[in-house]
Amino acid sequence: MSLTATSPSRDLSNTVRYALHGRVAVIFLDNPPVNGLGDTVRRGIHEGLALAQSDAAVDAIVIAGAGKAFCGGADIRQFNTPAATAKPMLRDVIAAIEASGKPVVAAIHGFALGGGLELALGCHYRVAQAGSRLALPEVNLGLVPGGGGTQRLPRLIGVMPALDMIHTGKPLDAGAALAAGLVDAIAEGDLLAFALPYALERAAQGSHPVASRRALNADGVDFAATRARLNPKARNAIAQRAAIDCVEAATRLPIEPGLDEERRLFDALVEGDASKALRHLFFAEKEAPRVSGGGRAGQIGRVGILGAGTMGGGIAMAFANAGYPVTLYERDQAALDRGVALIRKNYEITAAKGKLDAAGVEARMARIAPSLDVQDLGQADLVIEAVFEDMAVKQAVFRQLDAVCKAGAILATNTSRLNIDEIAACTVRPEAVIGLHFFSPANVMKLLEVVRGAGTGADVIATCMAVAQKIGKIPVLVGVCEGFVGNRMLTGYWREAGFLLEEGASPQQIDGALTRFGMAMGPLAMADLAGMDINWATRKRLAPTRPAHLRYSKVADRICELGRFGQKTQAGYYRYEPGSRQPLPDPVVDGIIEDCAREAGIVRRPVSDEEIVERCMLALVNEGALIIEEGIAQRASDVDVVYVHGYGFPGARGGPMFHAQTLGLAATLEKIRALRHEHGEHWKPAPLLERLVEQGATAF
Ligand code: NAI
Repeated sequence: MSLTATSPSRDLSNTVRYALHGRVAVIFLDNPPVNGLGDTVRRGIHEGLALAQSDAAVDAIVIAGAGKAFCGGADIRQFNTPAATAKPMLRDVIAAIEASGKPVVAAIHGFALGGGLELALGCHYRVAQAGSRLALPEVNLGLVPGGGGTQRLPRLIGVMPALDMIHTGKPLDAGAALAAGLVDAIAEGDLLAFALPYALERAAQGSHPVASRRALNADGVDFAATRARLNPKARNAIAQRAAIDCVEAATRLPIEPGLDEERRLFDALVEGDASKALRHLFFAEKEAPRVSGGGRAGQIGRVGILGAGTMGGGIAMAFANAGYPVTLYERDQAALDRGVALIRKNYEITAAKGKLDAAGVEARMARIAPSLDVQDLGQADLVIEAVFEDMAVKQAVFRQLDAVCKAGAILATNTSRLNIDEIAACTVRPEAVIGLHFFSPANVMKLLEVVRGAGTGADVIATCMAVAQKIGKIPVLVGVCEGFVGNRMLTGYWREAGFLLEEGASPQQIDGALTRFGMAMGPLAMADLAGMDINWATRKRLAPTRPAHLRYSKVADRICELGRFGQKTQAGYYRYEPGSRQPLPDPVVDGIIEDCAREAGIVRRPVSDEEIVERCMLALVNEGALIIEEGIAQRASDVDVVYVHGYGFPGARGGPMFHAQTLGLAATLEKIRALRHEHGEHWKPAPLLERLVEQGATAF
């Protein structure tokens, strides 16, 4: 937004400017990227207010934001530092606004989020540019608004609408905000050209409304029912509950004790592990798509997909949903028909839930062109193969693609474990070959592992990172190794689960302990869902590389030898009734576990839930540290993003590497050393972890 002052503007701090426009003082937040309310911004606003109060030539005050938005809220990088609590706090700034005899108008463009909206709520009037968004999204970071938002919003727009906005964090656009009474007017053109005369008109009125002094009507509001509707497994469940408590406090208490209560709940959350973890993830997700290497992203028009099975169908949907035209190729008519019918069925299920209308279903289906002619892939800019997981099959497919695809096309494989470089080697364009490892269901799961081969071009990587974000994924760049980041780490996780079974735990106990820890699924139920045959094939392939002296649990192999591959055969670690996904304990599996333990000379013992969680988690952490050290992941936070978005790791724990930081790196290493002492070589600590502890580091 431009500002042409009628008197020169002056800096109140390095992040706030002050200018006079006739008889209106404008306080401009100028703290890129989103005018976060750090200590200098709060101080600047406070000084600006005092200046305007004492200037007889000023009749009204406008607070506005420079750059793309009014204000994105608190400066979360300052949380848990002294700057976050430096005076004046937001509460003091708002108290100064409310005490002002001259009207203060918030002029909102872009967005007013969190503390930004609280600042606006403290103003006497709010005008918003059409298209701007207003929200109190603190719950997404495991927090509640801490600057009076939970006390003023219910007084301004009513308890139920406020409760809904605060505990869900959902935004209102300017139009909805006007209808709700959250803003007083909408500016269609230049915001300041609207806000300045608006402020002067209000100044002429004499007295000005203050949200915190408005009466509050809580008749018919059922807080218990709102609490009962919360999902206790949501990653921000604690914060959602606290948000409801805050709004309830607004209905019970006068404004000042209400503000105290809100602050008390905010302070408890901001010091808690869950909010720290969610804030870590907030930055981790922003960081993940960034890659070093300087490639330039190209444009993707048409997308080609080979294989209309489980993954190919889901990938086709992911692109069609984002508006991309897709050519879906299969090797025979029956498989193609099956694949297309499944895509339609999935869309119709979405439509039946009311999330898509009939026209939306048809528009998406129309973007997917089924084909039995591989030449039809010739014009695609990006081709993704999702055929069987077999190197010979993949190589044959890539030779074919090399022959038919246009120059400059990106040739991607969805392999979950195979070596990208061996696949690239059978083309004459290894720079165009990359791994795009989607997760099942591919139209739903947010994670995409982008696998960089030895010869993959920087532009190809940049293009894939960009297109991934366009289809709503969080891309994480990973290097070539067995299983890349996510599946490689599962190896140790499943290894420990197998050992714990032999030592005395049951499948139900292992899965129960880990789901209570917060995992979306336990490791054994997950193996049943993914298909135990897939891991079995991997174990057989890797058997020759397994050192003979290392302990190996045969439980999974024995289960597979009986033709039990998990849910698809209604039997794996558990048994399943026809048509049901409910895992049921199975004495056959208990027998296998006891046999394996006996053969290995293990005397079974009671195993505690704590031991299960500790061994499975530390196996993830130690392998994650190796992955970071080898440069397979660009950064530790990427490993966390992979686990939270691809493997059901609890967001409120921030991912395995953040979890280790919460435990303390020294304590983590000590536990790993103790496990090595007890269980041997599998627990050799990652050198990176040892080095970091030696240096006294607290983070990876
Ligand atoms: P699937 O068996 O459901 O589908 C494979 C499809 O490819 C079948 O429809 C088959 O007819 C077709 N196909 C085989 N050879 C072909 C060829 N030469 N040309 C065209 N089509 C051909 O398998 P799924 O589960 O979809 O897996 C595909 C790939 O995705 C594998 O590499 C797998 O490792 C990978 N993957 C699978 C995940 C999963 O959860 N299922 C997760 C991530 C990756």
